[in-house]
Parts: sequence; structure tokens; C-alpha cells
Amino acid sequence: MAIRPLIAGNWKMNGLRADAIALAGGIVKNIEDGGAAPCDMLVCPPFPHLQAVSGALAGSAVAVGGQDCHNADAGAHTGDVSAVMLQDAGCSCCIVGHSERRADHDEDDAVVRAKATAVHQEGLIAIICVGETLAQRDAGTTLQIVETQLRGSLPEGAEAENTVIAYEPVWAIGTGRTPSLEQVGEVHDHIRSVLAGITENGEAVRILYGGSMNPGNARDILALANVNGGLVGGASLKIDDFCAIVRSCG
Ligand code: 13P
Repeated sequence: MAIRPLIAGNWKMNGLRADAIALAGGIVKNIEDGGAAPCDMLVCPPFPHLQAVSGALAGSAVAVGGQDCHNADAGAHTGDVSAVMLQDAGCSCCIVGHSERRADHDEDDAVVRAKATAVHQEGLIAIICVGETLAQRDAGTTLQIVETQLRGSLPEGAEAENTVIAYEPVWAIGTGRTPSLEQVGEVHDHIRSVLAGITENGEAVRILYGGSMNPGNARDILALANVNGGLVGGASLKIDDFCAIVRSCG
């Protein structure tokens, strides 16, 4: 069975409420004008805009997700939000372990796993990010690093219905640089083989590529055997670019 691709936009810390509503509305209009989308679609706005974006996307084919969550349901965790709050705000997914969280907030694999577990407990889909730094790529340890992150971050009970993996080479994020197709394919094939060994239906888990994906490179990347979609940063803030990437799945 072919895996239906997922194109997810990670809006990161960008835009005010009105921008978020306009972006969400613009994506829906563009997609609806173009006929049925060839993939599932998701946008992950900043927390303060979740409710507004959920409203703007209500009834559309575009889902809403969080960019992070705490591993606890509630409590004294200033500045954090829980998976149950995300679900309450209309989210069906949550990104965990993004390299910006790993770097800016010292999140290690155990933290990421705990967050992914919390996401699963609320019945949401965890998008678990892994990826090597440039130094690690140059040292030839990419596959080893990615496999260690994957094994350490994947919670018990992870399967195709509740888990998506995103391979995001740190050095490709926001830089305009992307790995070669061979390099992307090599890492995705490796992730697939690791998943097949440790999850129930690892052959059906979606593996997204992220890092400077744009309308110019999306089609070739998305055509690779074990690439099942994209996690898009900068280009997801532009209606036409995000929708062009969506159409590249078809
Ligand atoms: P860019 O597409 O801006 O490189 O960001 C990728 C990313 O980090 C998505 O999570």
C-alpha cells in the first residue's frame, strides 16, 4: 500500500494573529481552487495563534498542530503547554524534538521521548524530528547519529497511526542548502530499516524530509522511495510556495 504523503508547515515563531489567519485562509483557498490535494496537509502555528488558525481551517482539509509540548498534563511549568491543551485548541499533531528545541532548550532524546509519549496519550500524532549537524555529517557519523536519536526518541507503542518521523539535517534548516538526493535517500532508507525493526508497522510510518524544501526542489525529494512528505519552514509562510510543494506530491 502506498503511503499517503504529508506536507506540514512549521511556522516557527513568525507572524502576528492577523498574518496567521490570512496565511491559513490563503492556503485553504489556493488548495480548494486547485482541486483535491494529493497529500495530507498540516500547519503548525505559534501557540497564541492556534485557536484562530483552527477556526480559519475548520471544515478544510488542512489540519493544525503544535510545535512542541511539555510531557506533563498540567502543573507548575511556566511558559509550557501540554498536549491536552493542544488537543483542546484543535490540534491533531505535535512536533517534538525539533533541532531548534534540542539546541535552544537542551532537549535530549529522553525528553523528546517523554514529550512524544504525552502526545500519544492525548491521541495526537507525534512528529518526531531527527537530524545531524554539519560537523557530524563531515565526520561521517550521520547514519549513526540519526539512528541513535530515533531509537532514543521513539516511545513505546509508536506506530504508523500515531507517529511521523521528520529527518531534518540541522545544516539544511533555513540555509538554502539541501543534501543531495542520494544523501536524503540514504538517510531515509536507513530510518525505514530501523523503524521496520522496532515498530509494529514500521514500513507504513511516514518519514518526512525537512530543510530548505521549496517549490524548486520538492518534487525530486518527494519522489524518493522512502520520503513520504515534507516538514517545511520558510516556504510554508508563503501561500504559493506551500501550495506548490503540496502539489509536488501529485
Ligand atoms: P526551512 O524549511 O526554513 O529550512 O525549515 C525547516 C524546518 O526546520 C522545518 O521544521
